Amino acid sequence: MKAMVAVLDFGGQYNQLIARRVRELHVYSEMVPYDIELDKLQKMNPQGIIFSGGPASVYEKGAPQCDPGIFEMGIPILGICYGMQLIAKNKKGLVEDSHIKEYGRAYLNINSPDGLFKDINSPLPVWMSHGVAVKRVPEGFEIMAATDNCPIAAMGDYKNKLYGVQFHPEVRHTHQGNDILGNFLFSICRIKPDWDLQDYITSTIEAIRRQVGDNKVLCALSGGVDSSVAAVMTYKAVGQKLICVYVDTGLMRKHESEQVKEIFANKMGMELVFVDARDRFFNKLAGVRDPEQKRKIIGAEFIRVFEEEARKFGEINYLVQGTIYPDVVESGTKTANIIKSHHNVGGLPEDMEFELVEPLRLLFKDEVRAIGTELGMSDEIVWRQPFPGPGLGVRVLEEVTHEKVSILQEADYIVQEEIRKAGLEREIWQAFAVLPPIRSVGVMGDDRTYSYPVIIRAVNSDDAMTAEWSRLPYEVLDKIALRIVNEVKGINRVAYDITSKPPGTIEWE
Ligand code: XMP
Repeated sequence: MKAMVAVLDFGGQYNQLIARRVRELHVYSEMVPYDIELDKLQKMNPQGIIFSGGPASVYEKGAPQCDPGIFEMGIPILGICYGMQLIAKNKKGLVEDSHIKEYGRAYLNINSPDGLFKDINSPLPVWMSHGVAVKRVPEGFEIMAATDNCPIAAMGDYKNKLYGVQFHPEVRHTHQGNDILGNFLFSICRIKPDWDLQDYITSTIEAIRRQVGDNKVLCALSGGVDSSVAAVMTYKAVGQKLICVYVDTGLMRKHESEQVKEIFANKMGMELVFVDARDRFFNKLAGVRDPEQKRKIIGAEFIRVFEEEARKFGEINYLVQGTIYPDVVESGTKTANIIKSHHNVGGLPEDMEFELVEPLRLLFKDEVRAIGTELGMSDEIVWRQPFPGPGLGVRVLEEVTHEKVSILQEADYIVQEEIRKAGLEREIWQAFAVLPPIRSVGVMGDDRTYSYPVIIRAVNSDDAMTAEWSRLPYEVLDKIALRIVNEVKGINRVAYDITSKPPGTIEWE
């Protein structure tokens, strides 16, 4: 039986990272809701428990509280930020508003250099984000470290193996954060690192086989990394019983549809139904200028095409989805306003009744990429940038026509090529071209031109929730601009978008 660490999710910003860092240390870890029932948690058989951070204050009305029985399980617990305060409150310490709030970098002075802080430098740069702190440690606890503004920045009850840290070891700004988590796992919980992605692949393939038995499975393959890796894992589990449907909407990037066919059908020998639905999409989009309406039309048409194809296979009850961990967390805690109605081409038609096969549910994008590589998939697919479901339909602004899409495909292809040549493709979250519905005057040779400009957008991001515009080197921008105006007929000007998100969004529509 492999070791397991449960991370109780109290709603903090960096929570998703905790389980992930534990897995980086080769220990299997899962996030669970903070109010998980005791017997459910016991069944998971964790060898260590981590309480995450969270935005609430422990004395606030309705502040998230875990089952107090967790403290009686005899399993080591590490509380991070809110998690530390929760331990302090439950064990009768004192938590109060700090008169000095701490956000950002602080220096941790360690006075207990064993156990949790074994081989950790002091002072240590750490990342703080709190306005409340432990003011008196509970009985049986010792103060293990302090910063200038936080006299109790870490505490521990060594006998009962309960620990709390006010800083965030899971974020990269905390130096040696993984070493601290490693000390908790290996010295305090006495776990042996025994998990890797190959384990995940093997056990997930077995789980898919158990789930679907001898039945057929359907997959809406978009060619994006998540649905592609999910499809390949399912293919390894059920072989030709997996049927992938790829809908060519005509709104894909240059060569994308041929690439999908080449890789999945020709190279991998997977059962791929390739549907040429280009005319259907362009007909539906004719004359439509409103971004939301375009998104709805594309989403609905996709579902219609997909359903028609699915019906041809008779009764299929299983559908593969490339849902990844951030999707799960987002849909579980969604309180935000709709900025754009996101549509996942390759996603689930809402009114179709399928049992879902979601082999990547617990993983982050870079873990999915590592699995793709481990499965022998090419870099072309594994390192593909996120691409919106409605495709170039939301990058040709306002009305979508064949002519505009093909101009954009050419410009976009140059952007991709130059970013790749400059060795920047793995650093940048997304880089692409946008075609606005305006024209400007230019001069080429001795002639006046009156053509479209193209806007280049490149952003850095961790999860697309926020993004910063990429400081692309001038030489790369220059090369892109020169090539586009020279090589793409219909473009006479190139602009670069220097808006971050917020206030902009990544896509223009
Ligand atoms: P925005 O433009 O909202 O985009 O900042 C955030 C991320 O989501 C991608 N995106 C989509 N992905 N279906 C998707 O699957 C969609 O409808 C969609 N719209 C935007 C966008 O490319 C960026 O990575």
